Amino acid sequence: MSGGIDLKAVGDLSRAEAVAELERLAGEIAAHDQRYYQDDAPSVSDADYDALRQRNAAIEAVFPDLVRDDSPSKRVGAAPAEKFSKVRHAVPMLSLGNAFSEEDVAEFVERIRRFLKLDAETPVTFTAEPKIDGLSASLRYENGVLVQAATRGDGETGEDVTGNIATIAEIPKHLEGEGFGAVCEVRGEVYMSHADFTDLNARQEADGKPVFANPRNAAAGSLRQLDAAITAARPLKFFAYAWGEASALPAGSQWGVLEAFRAWGLPTNPLTRRVSSVAEIMDFYREIEADRARLGYDIDGVVYKVDRLDWQTRLGFVSRSPRWAIAHKFPAEKATTILEAIEIQVGRTGALTPVAKLKPVTVGGVVVSNATLHNEDEIARKDVRIGDTVIVQRAGDVIPQILGVVEGTPRGSEPYQFPTTCPICESHAVREINPRTGKEDVVRRCTGSLICPAQAVEKLIHFVSRNAFDIEGLGAKQVTAFFEEGLIKTPADIFTLEERDRTSLKKLKDREGWGSTSVANLFAAIDERREIDLNRFIFALGIRHIGETTAKLLARHYGTFAALRAAVAEAAGGAETEAYQALLAIDGIGATVVEALVDFFGEPHNETAIDKLLEAVTPREAEQPESAESPVSGKTVVFTGSLEKFTRDEAKAMAERLGAKVASSVSKKTDLVVAGPGAGSKLKKATELGIEVIDEDGWLERVG
Ligand code: IVH
Repeated sequence: MSGGIDLKAVGDLSRAEAVAELERLAGEIAAHDQRYYQDDAPSVSDADYDALRQRNAAIEAVFPDLVRDDSPSKRVGAAPAEKFSKVRHAVPMLSLGNAFSEEDVAEFVERIRRFLKLDAETPVTFTAEPKIDGLSASLRYENGVLVQAATRGDGETGEDVTGNIATIAEIPKHLEGEGFGAVCEVRGEVYMSHADFTDLNARQEADGKPVFANPRNAAAGSLRQLDAAITAARPLKFFAYAWGEASALPAGSQWGVLEAFRAWGLPTNPLTRRVSSVAEIMDFYREIEADRARLGYDIDGVVYKVDRLDWQTRLGFVSRSPRWAIAHKFPAEKATTILEAIEIQVGRTGALTPVAKLKPVTVGGVVVSNATLHNEDEIARKDVRIGDTVIVQRAGDVIPQILGVVEGTPRGSEPYQFPTTCPICESHAVREINPRTGKEDVVRRCTGSLICPAQAVEKLIHFVSRNAFDIEGLGAKQVTAFFEEGLIKTPADIFTLEERDRTSLKKLKDREGWGSTSVANLFAAIDERREIDLNRFIFALGIRHIGETTAKLLARHYGTFAALRAAVAEAAGGAETEAYQALLAIDGIGATVVEALVDFFGEPHNETAIDKLLEAVTPREAEQPESAESPVSGKTVVFTGSLEKFTRDEAKAMAERLGAKVASSVSKKTDLVVAGPGAGSKLKKATELGIEVIDEDGWLERVG
């Protein structure tokens, strides 16, 4: 999710905030889509992903004119990966509407009867087919010969996976018999059986490769291999259930077409039935649900389709789903088992996530041994302890979750203590306070961002990015490769790369994708950055909440890195310290940033990493505010009372530009108080302390 940030109610968002959030959501959702659809390695639960999409939709509903061209709401599924060539589907590959209850099904049937204006005596027959949990594919046969196969992609354009599909033994390269015409696009689901999935994961594990989260991801990952030889080694299966472009159909009913498919040699699901009433539908549904665990492959519901094709044509489509079909989804499945351990995983942003390690249990036909416990507060709220008997729920492909402890079972003895250090790098792990709400963030985060292996690659990529160190020839790809080989683990390592390469046996220039010239260019580009603007240096550190603008503010205010560091060290003493207040007083900087700085610099591991970096890199001194000679530079100024010529923020910004420090309360250290009408206690205190007091005009005169 969005890192546990407390989100403002959509109605409270300003336009600027909406713009910013829509941009963030577009980026975040696209990244999740990439991981889900193209890398087959989702990193969030479906529920969290849906929450992001819902938030996006809600903001777009309130600010319809801010909908972005790349808005996630304009995409279905994912655009095809770059690596395969694209195939435009002659007939789009659509999705299905969902039903979750008998009422939904009855409503579906009624809708159809109404639409077709059928009288009470005319029955409507449906096919009822298991809904296979795999990935859909479209197989194009020309004169019965398989000529092309494509994935669904975004429904309009998919990926050309002909070579990969051709390795699936069950899929005929030539159709048998007759009736398939010049063109027949057969559509169906590519899937992997439970047994094959377990074997594949065992092999992956033995080879030290990542295991797949579920059979669907395994099937998708196996089909979308650039090297079809890999697909060939993965046992994929197929069920045909629909069609796209077809020059002639072999029958006038869904059932008849499925029979023809079977006669041509295509696998169809043997559990498919014909049903003619809601009661029959429900009987079939319950039967399939009861058999689900024994099928040997994942299904997530039953699909009902109007059998008569002429009726299908009349019924047509609503938005992207047919009116003549619906997917009746199975409810979430539950089971109880023992919580054997709680493992803390550290994500790329340093978020500590508790994962329940369970005594393996079958939930809805799938063996579950890991489940999410969400966060620290959830564990406490449910009082889940190691050794407890817990309820696990699995709904579709959502990561299984722990609902709670089974009452009346023996309890684990100790309440669970959430760690306050990172299990990967041992840095402190903290929960931020949201200054707006005063509430603690639910997520605990590792503060060792520069050195924590769980965060390192991401931080390194940020470090070399365009607005940070911007090292030519060293982008995300190269940094990731160098990290994986252990060549660059912290930012400082970038600057010792050349030196180490000189004495290394495996020279950079001999690596794939590199040569003498590109390596020489890389070293030169690195050398060019041994001196760097202070703001870029600060931004590059990847401190939470410190974006480019804040980095510039800090650079301008403190001038040198040493000054910033010293100020933060002092501010670590608490909100009462002057350094803390001085940081807060910088226009554009709030408590979130100050806390983030204190957390970051307070982590000894980060300090060490920075010291090492500073041995190789010199941040250039930043230009100090306008002129050192301004009449107020170095002075501490307090504004009080109402100002008429400019807003408080403007006055503050002006003073800072001129090198003054703006404080919010009057003390012995105050040099000047600018008082407007209605000034009260601050003015009184200033007079008591004998501090110079001027009015707005006096201020303007003074600063010119
Ligand atoms: S029919 C126009 N039949 O479910 C209708 N889909 O949620 C096209 N699926 O994208 C789909 N089993 O990947 C249909 N027996 C079945 C199915 C099935 C699984 C998948 C398919 C589709 C998704 C829709």
